[in-house]
Amino acid sequence: MPNSPFCDKKSLIAIMDSLDVGIIFVNENNDILFVNKTAEEIRRIKSEESVGKSILNCHGGKMNHRVLEVMDNFKKDNNISRHKLIKTRGKYFDNIYNVVKDEQSKYLGVVLLSQDVTEKKMLEEKLQKYNEELEHKVKERTKEIEDAYNKLKVAQQQLVQSEKMAAIGQFVAGLAHEINNPLDGIQNCLRAILSEPQNLEQTKNYSELALDGLYKIEILVKKLLSYARLHALEKTEVDINLILKDILSLTSFKLKNKKIIINEEYSSDLPLIYGDAHFLEQVFVNLVLNACDAMPNGGQLTVKTFSNNNDFIEIKVIDNGEGIPNEHLNNIFDPFFTTKQKNNGTGLGLYLSYSFVEQHGGKISVKSKNGMGTEFTVLLPAIPIKENKIEVTEHVLS
Ligand SMILES: Nc1ncnc2c1ncn2[C@@H]1O[C@H](COP(=O)(O)OP(=O)(O)OP(=O)(O)O)[C@@H](O)[C@H]1O
Ligand SMILES: [Mg+2]
Repeated sequence: MPNSPFCDKKSLIAIMDSLDVGIIFVNENNDILFVNKTAEEIRRIKSEESVGKSILNCHGGKMNHRVLEVMDNFKKDNNISRHKLIKTRGKYFDNIYNVVKDEQSKYLGVVLLSQDVTEKKMLEEKLQKYNEELEHKVKERTKEIEDAYNKLKVAQQQLVQSEKMAAIGQFVAGLAHEINNPLDGIQNCLRAILSEPQNLEQTKNYSELALDGLYKIEILVKKLLSYARLHALEKTEVDINLILKDILSLTSFKLKNKKIIINEEYSSDLPLIYGDAHFLEQVFVNLVLNACDAMPNGGQLTVKTFSNNNDFIEIKVIDNGEGIPNEHLNNIFDPFFTTKQKNNGTGLGLYLSYSFVEQHGGKISVKSKNGMGTEFTVLLPAIPIKENKIEVTEHVLS
């Protein structure tokens, strides 16, 4: 910009004096050739006293040999620049030293730039402190949350334990009640027999009643034993369609006698499941018999299977019987809950079915409308289709 009005020496000096960066130019002999206003303030020197004097005058005597070393390095190594943060009189200065060369790359000297970065540095320090405090607080809170979580875990375990104990207590109380009733009956029968052993007619009647009571206890014990054996499931690949067909053909006589029409809808591409056929049979026998009991004057029983997706198969057992009153819906899976006449139900059927299905990784649910009918849905995890395919092995003929 040769014709620019700002290009003259005065303007350039005015520009450099207006900057808040200290500028000192030192020639190849380490003599100061230029000092701007900000550099005068920072270095506490006067331009008219410093220009023409050695740069060493700007530093304390102790620093002289280090300053000379730095300047010598500038002269020897091309293109180096140096950056240093200096703290002096409680202020921080960012000092940059840049080599100045002419067009032929001849070393002319070094320009020293100094900028007051105290505010920036203070902010950084504040930020650092704030970060440390924050980190500390986060650590403290994390610890508090961890402690609270651990306490909650312990409390939850205690709760689960006490719920388990309560459930066991409830179960045992129910069991004692279920066994005591027929035992009482049997005792009364035996007392009556013993009081008049010669009365053969009475002895026969009471013996039959006592046998009924024993039968009830026997059924109860059998069901409980099957539950106790639950941990030893023997799982194989099971075709639920086949199990349902078997159950319905075995119960068809009873169902037809009760004027119940059976409607079977089996999915033709139902995946196999991995399960214990014996326990699964018990689940569906109970659902079918419950449906049958709910239709004392006949009705329609529908058994359907679906392969909705590859993950689960779905089985529905639907009746149009008396339905389950709303107030019972929450209890039907409880042990010993039954609405059936004495000796007709132990109230363990759905309780056990629920456990068996759960042990297979499945779910059982119910929908019912009082007076209209009931629909039970069982979901069981399917074996993925590709695993069902028969493996073809290649034989190399020699
Ligand atoms: N399909 C249904 N329709 C109406 N009520 C039902 C149906 N299924 C179950 N219930 C109700 O749920 C109760 C509990 O059923 P659950 O199978 O557990 O026991 P239960 O059939 O009474 O006795 P058991 O131990 O012999 O099975 C039944 O007594 C009945 O009141
Ligand atoms: Mg039942």
